[in-house]
Amino acid sequence: MATYMPEPYRIKMVEPLRVTTKEERDTAIRRSHFNLFGLKSDDVYIDMLTDSGTGAMSDRQWAAIMLGDESYAGSRSYYKLMDTCGDLFGWSYFQPVHQGRAAEKVLFPNLLKPGQISISNMHFDTTAGHVMLCGARPVNCVVAEALDPSSLYPFKGNTDNARLKELIDQYGRDKVGMIVITVTCNSAGGQPVSLANMKETAAIARQAGIPLVIDAARFAENAFFIKEREEGQADRTIREIVLDMFAEADAFTFSAKKDGIVNMGGLVAVRDDSELMAGVRRLVVPNEGFLSYGGLAGRDMEALAIGLVEGLDESFLRSYTGQTCYLVDRLVEEGIPCQQPAGGHAVFVDARQLLPQILYDLFPAQSLCIELYREAGIRGCDVGSFMLDPDPETGEQPQAAMEFARFCIPRRTYTQAHLDYVVASLAKVKERASSLGGYRIVRAEKILRHFTARLEPWSHTL
Ligand code: F0G
Repeated sequence: MATYMPEPYRIKMVEPLRVTTKEERDTAIRRSHFNLFGLKSDDVYIDMLTDSGTGAMSDRQWAAIMLGDESYAGSRSYYKLMDTCGDLFGWSYFQPVHQGRAAEKVLFPNLLKPGQISISNMHFDTTAGHVMLCGARPVNCVVAEALDPSSLYPFKGNTDNARLKELIDQYGRDKVGMIVITVTCNSAGGQPVSLANMKETAAIARQAGIPLVIDAARFAENAFFIKEREEGQADRTIREIVLDMFAEADAFTFSAKKDGIVNMGGLVAVRDDSELMAGVRRLVVPNEGFLSYGGLAGRDMEALAIGLVEGLDESFLRSYTGQTCYLVDRLVEEGIPCQQPAGGHAVFVDARQLLPQILYDLFPAQSLCIELYREAGIRGCDVGSFMLDPDPETGEQPQAAMEFARFCIPRRTYTQAHLDYVVASLAKVKERASSLGGYRIVRAEKILRHFTARLEPWSHTL
C-alpha cells in the first residue's frame, strides 16, 4: 500500500475551507469563462493550482517577521538574507527581487539580444515570456525520456546535451545568448536534473563561451532527488549537493515562493563581481527598488532567510516529495496515467492518454481540470497546449510535447486525507472521461494568454 513519511511538523494554526455545491461550482466556472485562474479562491476546496507562494510558513518564520528591519537602505534583514545565501550557495552576489519573474526581468536583458536564442532543458512559461520580451526565442532540449510519461527514467529533467551541442553548431555560438538549466524541470513534470548532466551542460557552455544560468525555483527538491536517485550521491548531505549544483553556473534566478517557503520573494544571483552584476543592479533600482530590499519588505527577507534553511531540511524534503509520490502511486493504482516517476512539487496527469478524443487545439488538460473542479472543487491547471502562446509570426497554435493537467502540492499545507479525496475525485472523472469535450479560446492576450484567456465549450454543453 502506498504511504509516505509522516510530516516532520504539526499544525499550529488552521485556515478554514469552504465546501461548495456542484451547482455553485458550475456557476463559478462559467462565470470565470472556463479559466481556472478566473475562479475566486473561496469557490475552491483544495487549491492545487500552484505550489508557488501557497505553502505554510513555520512558527519561526512568523516570529522572524516581527524582527524585520524596514530601513530603506542597509536593512539588517537584508544582511541576514545575504549571509544565509552566501552560506548555502557559496556565491558572492545576491539580489533580492519580488519574485522569480522579476529576477528574469533584471537578468535576461543583460544576456540576450534581439534575434538570439536561449536554450534550456525546458523554459518555464514566464521564463519563455521574458526571453521573448528581449526579442529572443526560447528553444527547449529536454531528454526524450521526458516525453514518455510511462518511462521510469529517474532524471527526466535532464538536458539532451548532444542536441544542445547540435543547436549551438546549427545557430552558431554568437546566436546563443544563454543556456538555462531549470531545476527541477517544472514543465516536464517537476522532474529532476542529475548532477552529472548539469556538469556536462556546464562544460559545453564553458567551451562555447555561453553564459550558464540556473532557474533554481525548486533546487532543494532537485538536490534531494540527486541524493535519492543518482549513483554515488546517497551519502552526501543536501547542502553539499546544492553547492555542487551551483558550482559551475554564471548566474541564477530564484522564485523563493517555492523552495524558499515564503508567500512572496525572489533572488537573482551572479557568481562574481562582474559587468553582469553591474547590469543587473542597473535594472533593479528602477524596476524593483533600492538594492538592499529589491521589492521586498524587511520582514519578507527575514522569513526567506529562515525558509531557505527549512526548505533544505532532509526530513522535510523526504516527507514533501513523499506526498507527491503517494499521490502518483494512488492515481496509477486507479488507472489514471501520470508522468512517472513522481516529480517534486506536483502530479502531472497525462490528459492526452486519458482524453484521446480531445485534440491538442481543444486543450484536453484544460478540459480535465475543469471537470475535476466541477466534480470536487479541486483546482489544477493545464501545462499543455493551452499554456503555449500562438506563434507570433504565423498565429498558429503550437502543439505541446505533452498534455499535462498539473495538480500541485503546496508545502506543509494539505494532509493525506486531502490527497485521498483528490484520488477519489479524479477516479470519478475518469469514469466519464470518454464523454468529455474540448474548449476553444474566444478571447486572449498575445503573451502568457493562459492566465486571462476566455474559453467556451466546443461541441458540447455544460
Ligand atoms: N521558473 C520556474 C521553473 C517556475 O516554476 C516559476 C513559477 C518561475 C520561474 C517564475 O517565478 O512565479 O515567482 O515569478 N512557477 C509557478 C508555477 C508560477 O505555478 O509553476 P514567479
